[in-house]
Amino acid sequence: MEPTLDQVVSWVKEAASMARQMRQEDLQVHHKSKADLVTEADTAIEAFLIDKIHTNFPNHSIKAEESGQHDGDQEDEWFIDPIDGTLNYAHGLPQYAISVAYACKGELKLGVIANPPMQEYFYAEAGKGSWLNGKPIHVSETQELIDSMLITGFRYHLLDTPRSNINNFIRLSHEVQSVRRLGSAALDLAYVACGRVEGFWEIDLSPWDVAAGILLIREAGGIVSTLHGEGHLLKGSVDILAANPVIFPKLQAILNEEHAKPL
Ligand code: IPD
Ligand code: CA
Ligand code: CA
Repeated sequence: MEPTLDQVVSWVKEAASMARQMRQEDLQVHHKSKADLVTEADTAIEAFLIDKIHTNFPNHSIKAEESGQHDGDQEDEWFIDPIDGTLNYAHGLPQYAISVAYACKGELKLGVIANPPMQEYFYAEAGKGSWLNGKPIHVSETQELIDSMLITGFRYHLLDTPRSNINNFIRLSHEVQSVRRLGSAALDLAYVACGRVEGFWEIDLSPWDVAAGILLIREAGGIVSTLHGEGHLLKGSVDILAANPVIFPKLQAILNEEHAKPL
């Protein structure tokens, strides 16, 4: 038996109300490292979602940010980021998400991303489309970089390395209206899917950050690939590029130029 989109959306809506509720209470925060936090909401929401999956689909395998790999049938795989944008959440900023995706035989089938404070629920089903709160969504039709807004992110542990992403940020900032850094990769991808921004890229994300967003964008008519076209999007650390189909090759050309430079 396969999960349905309605089922996963209803779990994520419950998880979203947990996130809102816990944010209003005295939130316990622990440091994994300087800029990598985990709150009690991350742990509680992840446990809630894993319980829903295990109860309904006991044989499925799960990759979840806080508890790691839950072994099961490799053909049926779930990806969970209980709070994407934990740093924002811990500081009381509303830019955070819950992201859940389901893949069968390596193909993404369902993806749901919630922004609890705005009560925005983005969801997609393979071959059927993408929606925001019940309305179909599409990537933007913007054709020119100069009319585009982009989003990116910076990993703290890469800041002083050649993979810091700073040169990409500077280079693209000259070409577009603006490049934002909002702090939740899952929501950034959802915003590409619904056409609020033209594109997103980031270096060294994890499968649970991107799985639901990849399906949302593809079903909304956009393109997603690894940054330089090599490797796999869902197997481990991933450098990702996503955009509307006209802007995508333009971004890829600029990002590849930077990549090709000698260190
Ligand atoms: C982080 C967010 C952030 C991105 C980081 C991620 P987390 O996820 O998606 O936007 O820049 O790379 O790790 O840790 O808040 O789940
Ligand atoms: Ca997280
Ligand atoms: Ca994340």
